[in-house]
Amino acid sequence: MPEVFQAPKGTRDILPPESDRWQALVAVFADVFGRAGYGLVQNPMFEDIGVFQRLGEGTEVVRKEMYDFFDKGDRHLALRPEGTASVVRAFNQHRPTVPWKVWYLTPCFRYEEPQAGRFRQHHQVGAEAIGSADPDLDVEVIALQHDFYRALGLSRLSLRLNSMGSPGDRQAYAGQLAAWLGERLGELDEADRANAADHPLRVLDSKRERTMAVVADAPRITDGLSADAAAHFERVQAGLDALGVAYEIDPRLVRGLDYYTHSTWEFAAGSLTSAQNAVGGGGRYDGLAEALGGKATPGVGFGAGIERILLAADAEDALTETAGAVDVFVVDVTGGDAGRDLTFELRRNGISADRAFDARSMKAQMKVADRSGARLALLMGDDELAADIVTVRDLRSGEGQTSVSRSEVVAELTARLAENESAQ
Ligand code: HAM
Repeated sequence: MPEVFQAPKGTRDILPPESDRWQALVAVFADVFGRAGYGLVQNPMFEDIGVFQRLGEGTEVVRKEMYDFFDKGDRHLALRPEGTASVVRAFNQHRPTVPWKVWYLTPCFRYEEPQAGRFRQHHQVGAEAIGSADPDLDVEVIALQHDFYRALGLSRLSLRLNSMGSPGDRQAYAGQLAAWLGERLGELDEADRANAADHPLRVLDSKRERTMAVVADAPRITDGLSADAAAHFERVQAGLDALGVAYEIDPRLVRGLDYYTHSTWEFAAGSLTSAQNAVGGGGRYDGLAEALGGKATPGVGFGAGIERILLAADAEDALTETAGAVDVFVVDVTGGDAGRDLTFELRRNGISADRAFDARSMKAQMKVADRSGARLALLMGDDELAADIVTVRDLRSGEGQTSVSRSEVVAELTARLAENESAQ
């Protein structure tokens, strides 16, 4: 027997009905951001590896987790580990008018150790707003992200907020932190020691307990912000306060990517275990466009992991209403012609409909109809065909059945389904 192949380690198949919830989530995202003036952007799944290397050699994503390969033309490419670098690369390439506000839905590839809520291919919805340094744009993006979670019905979320300051502030702080960590090397978890001198911010981001205990007393970046950066940070906080978005300031929130300046933030789900509870994070990246060879252009945005949001939705019993089932199921035991034609007549008139195949018995077809979750079954047997009628059976209420003239079926069903809709 040939081997039954399985999906690669760290990847999953998203099947119905889970994919119905997935679609519902994306529809809410598109709605919240579409109504705020964000348009959809679609980038290639792979880029020249240099695009992602600009995310910073200090990041795990770049150093250890990249899915890179050489194509048949010997180009060194990588599958995208995140969305922002490609969006900024596209901005540099096309020079759209600013502020350029876009949203995306994308798989992301990271060679991580898979565990609950951590995959090698995960999926993000995200948004980027490029071309303005206005702190009110940070506020807009954060508040829309907040409203997106709310619209999904999630309430047990908390928001942590920090500022990395200007690029100069960030660099000065990294130096100060490296010196501070250098005096405490022996107290850090062994795995974090190598980063202390060259990538001290990564140490701050460590999830290892020994290191976390040490860095709890580390100098705070927010204590050394330049006047402009402090003013930016204050304006962001005032905006979130005004819009009723609750947050907590966390001076240790540096996040896993090196491009951040000024605001950084992360939403965590109280319903998930702490290692994988981040359901979305983002920040400002005012130096990234230039690092990718473009004109210096500020930008701000975030990415949110769909798999984790769905786990949080499970834990909160949210996002349960999805429109997977069809309204009508057609059962034809006269050979299939009548059922085929009626099914398409319904569909072409805006009624969602499905049918059975393989010319099976009435009993077998009714079983499929029940399993489909459809509200109504339309039965077509020899008697119906002779009388030019269709029998309508309500599969949910179990209330008897009625006959409808074949030519009236579409009008009758349209009315019945509309009635049902308004009764709900
Ligand atoms: P990130 O924090 O690396 O940021 O990822 C964003 C979100 O993707 C996380 O909060 C989490 O929900 C989800 N995520 C990340 N890695 C995994 C994984 N291995 N398995 C499952 N879910 C995961 C970024 O990617 C930035 N591009 C965000 C951004 C946009 N910053 C500015 N603009």
